[in-house]
Amino acid sequence: MTTTGFISSVARRLEGKVALITGGASGIGECTAKVFAHHGAKVVVADIQDESGRSLAKALGPSNSTYVHCDVTDEAQVKNAVNAAVTTYGKLDIMFNNAGIADESKARIIDNEKVDFERVLQTNVTGVFLGIKHAARVMIPGRNGTIISTASVSSKVGAAASHAYCCSKHAVLGLTKNAAVELGQFGIRVNCLSPYALATPLAKQVIGLDDEQLENLMHAFGTLKGVTLQAEDVANAALYLASDEARYVSGHNLFIDGGFTIQNPSFRMFQYPE
Ligand SMILES: NC(=O)c1ccc[n+]([C@@H]2O[C@H](COP(=O)([O-])OP(=O)(O)OC[C@H]3O[C@@H](n4cnc5c(N)ncnc54)[C@H](O)[C@@H]3O)[C@@H](O)[C@H]2O)c1
Repeated sequence: MTTTGFISSVARRLEGKVALITGGASGIGECTAKVFAHHGAKVVVADIQDESGRSLAKALGPSNSTYVHCDVTDEAQVKNAVNAAVTTYGKLDIMFNNAGIADESKARIIDNEKVDFERVLQTNVTGVFLGIKHAARVMIPGRNGTIISTASVSSKVGAAASHAYCCSKHAVLGLTKNAAVELGQFGIRVNCLSPYALATPLAKQVIGLDDEQLENLMHAFGTLKGVTLQAEDVANAALYLASDEARYVSGHNLFIDGGFTIQNPSFRMFQYPE
């Protein structure tokens, strides 16, 4: 039997690779930038929060990381960010479409405003579409690359977030499937990540709870007990999809949800007494 030569214990799993991370200045994106850099990647941090983005790139080291202002809803800025990666580091191996926003969850659809709905879709869907498009533009000639987008458990289940957010994350999965089929012809892998809730500025803003309250809430509804989802868990999943260890994984929606989406909680089957 022959082996591929990829050994999972390799310390620096992204050595020689170039990654671009949208929404890289905070939360999951920030943590992933640190993990990718730790594993040897050159990282372009793209965000609209210039101060935090710049200071993150500085902390990762000027030879390993740069910051570029990029509003993912603006095609010219997405194009510019992708071009910046190629100009600075010579290529783009990993595109991580992670920027996302959420809106307040209003129980009744009649209370939801069109402007809020469209704002969420613009960032979460159009932003991912533009990221895939411009990454493909520079990856296709080299017939190589991997594209990852951040979806959510809301890509699968309803009633876990607002109408706009749920709709947007289902769309990220749709884009992932379509792009995986199209770009697979060029050896480019396309996947998405679906985390359960974790305490980042986005989650805290939407739910309006502090770290501890959010953690308690997540524990109450989570399936897997005794562990709290952290940004690092999502970053490590992104690391796997970005690395050559996932070289035959494409079109996949990787859940980092402790089994949340596979359970039907209403039956309360297998419930041990408290
Ligand atoms: N936190 C959670 O519970 C959770 C769960 C599942 C999925 N997600 C998804 O994870 C991703 C990252 O979110 P997070 O939780 O780390 O939140 P976060 O608020 O910490 O980070 C989001 C980042 O995206 C940036 N951003 C927002 N709009 C942008 C735009 N138009 N252009 C460029 N950057 C923009 C923000 O400035 C911020 O730095 C999002 O796609 C979110 O939907 C989060």
